[in-house]
This record gives sequence, structure tokens and C-alpha cells, in this order.
Amino acid sequence: MLNGEKKIARPLRWGMIGGGRLSQVGYKHRTGALRDHTAFQLLAGAFDIDAERGKDFGVNICMDESRCYPDYKTMFAAEAKREDGIEVVSIATPNGTHYEITKGALEAGLHVICEKPLFFTSEEGEEIKALAEQKGKIVGVTYGFSGNQMLLQMRAMIEQGKIGEIRVVELQYTHGFNANDQADKTSDAQKWRVDPKVAGPSFVLGDLSTHTYYMSQLIMPHMKIKKLLCDRQSFVGSRAPLEDNAFVMMHYENGAVGRLWTSSINAGCMDGHRIRIVGSKGSLEWWDNKGGELKFEVQGEPSQTFIRAMPYLDESCNADERLGALHVEGLSDAWANIYLKFAIAIDAKNRNDEETLKNLVYPDINAGIDGIRWIENCVRSADNGAVWVEIENKNPQLV
Ligand code: NAI
Repeated sequence: MLNGEKKIARPLRWGMIGGGRLSQVGYKHRTGALRDHTAFQLLAGAFDIDAERGKDFGVNICMDESRCYPDYKTMFAAEAKREDGIEVVSIATPNGTHYEITKGALEAGLHVICEKPLFFTSEEGEEIKALAEQKGKIVGVTYGFSGNQMLLQMRAMIEQGKIGEIRVVELQYTHGFNANDQADKTSDAQKWRVDPKVAGPSFVLGDLSTHTYYMSQLIMPHMKIKKLLCDRQSFVGSRAPLEDNAFVMMHYENGAVGRLWTSSINAGCMDGHRIRIVGSKGSLEWWDNKGGELKFEVQGEPSQTFIRAMPYLDESCNADERLGALHVEGLSDAWANIYLKFAIAIDAKNRNDEETLKNLVYPDINAGIDGIRWIENCVRSADNGAVWVEIENKNPQLV
């Protein structure tokens, strides 16, 4: 169980890019990173594309005004001159900026924590991975939901064979907030999401399904997709070629099959984030809106609901517990778990502690690149008429 005591020698000096007053995701980063104030200290920021608003925001969250910068390049240059300059930066800006800012940050000698989808192409991902290796830096990806410890319970139970051989994987991340085009016209955060120049080659596949795809890989690391077929639609026509709905069928290397539904036009849906894994003996099911519960159903036996923080859970799951039984945990706790692991990874990297890095389960650069490849394969399949695409490492072959 976590209680905020330090896991690394001292808190890391941290800066943020984006994530300011009008940002959707910025506060999630801060609640995650600053939950364990023994892990990160927020010291600098270029919080907004609007320099004045960014500075005003920084002052309003009680930062030193002189370290609220008009843009990230100024921040990197000024902080590099300080003895107490930042050593890690989080990037919470729209997708199309991630690659350039990550590259700049690594070149400035900083560790990076970046939003998903990481970049537009897997080539960019590989280039940044090589640069990070050369600089001896970590690049983490904020798949925030994946910090929910019940996913580690699923991982442990699957590894222990509790549900047998996996046969069916059912993934869903859907909502209905874009059932019409109102937000496309009125919300800055939605406008860029349907502009391929800023969002990249997809809308909901990148915006939503990269989370759920990563979570499925987290709980079933041995399950590799052999081929997939993606069918994507733009029910609001002005969003084309970007999709607001997609179905993906998957065949795994071990013979299992899967399907994923991602959508922002699932009108009325308020609880559409779900993972169900069906094995030869039983099934596991987790819903994000009841994230402290895990359904375990064995064929022929009464179904069970495992509850967070109970001693019968796996050690790996309870190691990430924060509040204890009878209390509700949620998304902020999941983000705090992810950020704590980023801190541990960065500290280990700084000390060349490869053993810690090898055993730490967290969304690293490889998870980010895997997410880009997921999108690339889905888009390639869909845009060739919803055909099966063989997943051959870097270069998927149409079949
Ligand atoms: P948003 O549109 O709400 O906010 C973006 C913010 O970035 C704005 O405040 C803007 O002023 C700022 N910005 C843009 N360019 C900048 C620059 N060059 N320098 C400094 N600030 C800049 O977008 P939202 O929804 O917060 O998404 C941002 C990123 O986070 C996206 O990549 C998105 O996919 C991801 N995201 C991740 C979530 C998660 O659960 N991990 C949840 C929501 C978004």
C-alpha cells in the first residue's frame, strides 16, 4: 500500500507544457504527479499557447512568476541555465505538437512524459526512442486509466491461469459527446481533434482506443495481435476522413479472437469503457465506471466480484493501493500511480539501474510506439476497404 513516503531520493524538478487554464487534461497531470509530493515538484511551465493566459494561470496555481514562460523553447533555454532547473517535462498539448516538443526536450537534456497518441508515425517513434537512448532519458506516455490497480489483478490472474487459455477479448471505449457536430464548432479541444493536421490520422482510434488497447496489452502482455480488420465511419460527415466510430476485429497469435468498439457518437452512453477477457475456464470483466471492482466468472460456479484493497488480491495489485477498503478511489489515483512509476523509472535511469527498469510495469516509449502502430494498422485496414491487415512488426502487409 502506498502512503506518500518517498520512493526516490528526492522529488524530481518538473515542468509542464500545455495543461493550462482551458485544457482538458492538465489538471489530471497535476493531481497525478503532485499526489505524492515526494515524487515531483512543479517548478516551471509554458502552460498555454496564449503566453499571457499561461503566465496568469501559473501565478494562480502559486508558481514563481519568473518561471511561467511564454513558450516551451524559452523555458528549456532559461531552465538549462539554472542550477535548480527542471529535469523532466510533461507535454499536455494537442497531438500534432508532441513530436517536435519531445525532440526539443530530449535535446535539452530533459526526461519526457508525453500525452497519447504519442506521435503521428511509428518512424517518429523509433527516431525518438533512439534519441532518448542516446541521451539516457525516459519517455513515458500518460495512459492514465492504466494506473488502476485492478488491471494488475487481471494481469496476475491471467498469468496464474485462473481463466485458462484466452479465447475472446472484448474491448470498448465509447461515449456520446460528439453525437452531433455542435462541439466541433464551439469547443477548441474538439475542433483540433477532427483536424488531421493536428489530431493525426485518426480521431477516436487515437483519442480513445489507444488507452484501451494499451490496457489490454498491460493485462495480457503475452497476447500479440497477428492480424486486424478495422471498419471506421464518420457519422458526422464533416469529420471525414477522421472517424467518430470504429470497429476493430483482431486475431491473436495464440488463436484467440477479439473485437474493439470505439466511438464518440454512442449517444447517451456515460459508462462505455470496458474490458472483458474470456478464457477456456472463466472470464474477467472490468468497467472503468466501477473501477474498484473486478468480476470473475468461472463456468458452472457462482460469479464473484473482487473488491479493491482486500487482502485476497494479488500483491502487485495491493502494492498500488492508496486509500484502503471502504473508500472510493478513482481516476486521480490511477494517474498518481502512473506518475509515481514515471518518477521511479526516471530515478532508475539516472542511476543506470537497469534491473529496476526491467521489472517496472509502466507505459514507456515502447508502449507509445505500439499505440502509434495500432492506429497505423487500423487506418491502413479501414482505408483499404476494411480488409485484414497482417501485423508484421513495422510494415503491415495487406492480405
Ligand atoms: P485542449 O485543447 O483542451 O488543451 C490543449 C492546451 O494546450 C491548451 O490549453 C493550449 O493553450 C495548450 N497549447 C497548445 N499548443 C501549445 C504550445 N505549443 N505550448 C504550450 N501550450 C500549448 O486539449 P486536451 O484535451 O487537454 O488534450 C491535450 C493532449 O492530451 C492531447 O494529446 C490529448 O490526446 C491528450 N489527452 C489525454 C487524456 C488522457 O487521459 N491521457 C485525456 C484528454 C486528452
